[in-house]
Amino acid sequence: MALSSQHKKSLAKTAESRILPLAASAPLLSDNLFRWYADKGRHLAWRARWPELTPAYHVFLSELMLQQTVVATVVPYFLRFCKRWPDIHALARAPLDDVLIEWAGLGYYARARNLHKAAQLISSEYDGIFPDDYETLQTLPGIGPYTAGAIAAIAFDKPAIVIDGNIERVLMRLMGLKVQVAEVKSVLRTAYAQIIPTTNRSDFPQALMDIGASICLPKNPRCADCPLKAQCRADKDGMAADIPVKPVKIAKPVRTGAVYILTAPDGLVMMYRRPQRGLLGGMLSFPSAGWDKSALAAPQIEGLEDIVWQKSQRVIRHVFTHFTAEMSVYSAAAQPSFMPPEPYDWHRPIADDWPRLMAKCFLDISS
Ligand code: ADE
Repeated sequence: MALSSQHKKSLAKTAESRILPLAASAPLLSDNLFRWYADKGRHLAWRARWPELTPAYHVFLSELMLQQTVVATVVPYFLRFCKRWPDIHALARAPLDDVLIEWAGLGYYARARNLHKAAQLISSEYDGIFPDDYETLQTLPGIGPYTAGAIAAIAFDKPAIVIDGNIERVLMRLMGLKVQVAEVKSVLRTAYAQIIPTTNRSDFPQALMDIGASICLPKNPRCADCPLKAQCRADKDGMAADIPVKPVKIAKPVRTGAVYILTAPDGLVMMYRRPQRGLLGGMLSFPSAGWDKSALAAPQIEGLEDIVWQKSQRVIRHVFTHFTAEMSVYSAAAQPSFMPPEPYDWHRPIADDWPRLMAKCFLDISS
């Protein structure tokens, strides 16, 4: 047998052997967790406290926004969405463009399109009533196992598994698993299922998230302040800070790009809506090249054949999931008579309505 597969087997055995001790400590763990949560848990706009439950619409909105975005960034977006579209029917009726504009700056725009599509399905196929079970929820666009678990648990108090990055770390430390997260994903699910309490189930994952966000920190865990210290194997073994083991980082490839910002005499800027599919799909964009794998060349736009673009001194860096874009920003002033040809048009320079990459490039030439 190859060493790596033997290693994997012994690792799985160790991990599995830690489930039972954790499950045995579950009642104490919950007691300590909820006592701490009542006093120190975060009061966030989308949170209710058990036995009150957060409306499924609010869990759905917040969870989609929180995928890949930090809480502090999400709060104002969540509040604006709720004010503008107070229920699922209102969101379903909204034009997709309005949803994308309201989403601008949160990134990962496929989430906004899925949010809108799911809202339309729930509004039309489910009379606006969210399904409450884990399996049905996962049939909706943008709702994978994590979000389905979060909606089932937080909005419906179901015994569903909810494991985000914070909870992964908390569980791995509780179990003393000094390995990479990817090696124990399924063990963590089994362990989580065994410690779900019989009451306060809607608070349970959120309290664990808060432990992860404020006590069980990635770098400098505050073990002395941790309400789960007595149940924590990593603390006993003195290795909380070494868990989880970090995977070796692979540097993101860099894509060189260029953005071309044409300004009209009245201050409007020339933009177009990108195709729905692909990077920044459906979002407003300046003419650009390179960063999206298009050829790195100035755009050929009817009426702008003789334009002289001014290149900015700075290069704008923007990090996407799979690559970093390094953008040169070119600007020029349009003649008063110039009319943008299709698909371009003049737009008001409201950078908050644009994807971050475009906003950053615009702010570079405006500052
Ligand atoms: N991240 C994902 N879901 C969350 C929640 N309900 N509260 C805080 N952070 C979260």
